[in-house]
Amino acid sequence: MSSQVHGTQHFDKAKRAQIAFSEIAMNTVQVIISHYPPEKIKSALLPVLHVAQAEFGGWLSPETMDYVASILKIKPIEVFEVASFYTMYNLKPMGKCVLEVCQTSSCWLMGAEDIVKYIEKKLNIKVGETTKDGMFTLKTAECLGSCGTAPMLQCGASYHENLTYEKVDNLLENYKTENRLRSYTDLDYKNTL
Ligand code: FES
Repeated sequence: MSSQVHGTQHFDKAKRAQIAFSEIAMNTVQVIISHYPPEKIKSALLPVLHVAQAEFGGWLSPETMDYVASILKIKPIEVFEVASFYTMYNLKPMGKCVLEVCQTSSCWLMGAEDIVKYIEKKLNIKVGETTKDGMFTLKTAECLGSCGTAPMLQCGASYHENLTYEKVDNLLENYKTENRLRSYTDLDYKNTL
């Protein structure tokens, strides 16, 4: 199998050699894989990438994608193609808390733009940027399926709805105090296995 992962990031063989899931993450991956017939193992890629992203700092480096490819016995380019297609996978380092503010119709009508501006001012970053302390990255997102409670944002597995400036203040403060990586797998990985 080729060890090349296509993308803009440099592939580091030494880093790749150090990458390995923790026991709990590997157990999770094995459970995920067991849900698919051996000849369809590639179908496990999306959930395995979620575990990998949570496990390795909130993003998927070329080395991580190569590692995932080796586990699923597929080509690294196949992992990259999927990881680069879906916005929930990060191909560069992010803050511990990625704030995804929905900007689609209902949220927009209910003031999402003002919420984005408020967060930008409060954290002193623009959309797409990460705070200097590596705590927060601000992103915008398309409809997250919570239109009835607009405006809202997602951070990892948590939804924050009916946002007000006060709610934003509180959630940022809580995340700072908690000071941990928030991932999409927060609800079903590590805490429950
Ligand atoms: S428009 Fe924001 S959740 Fe649907």
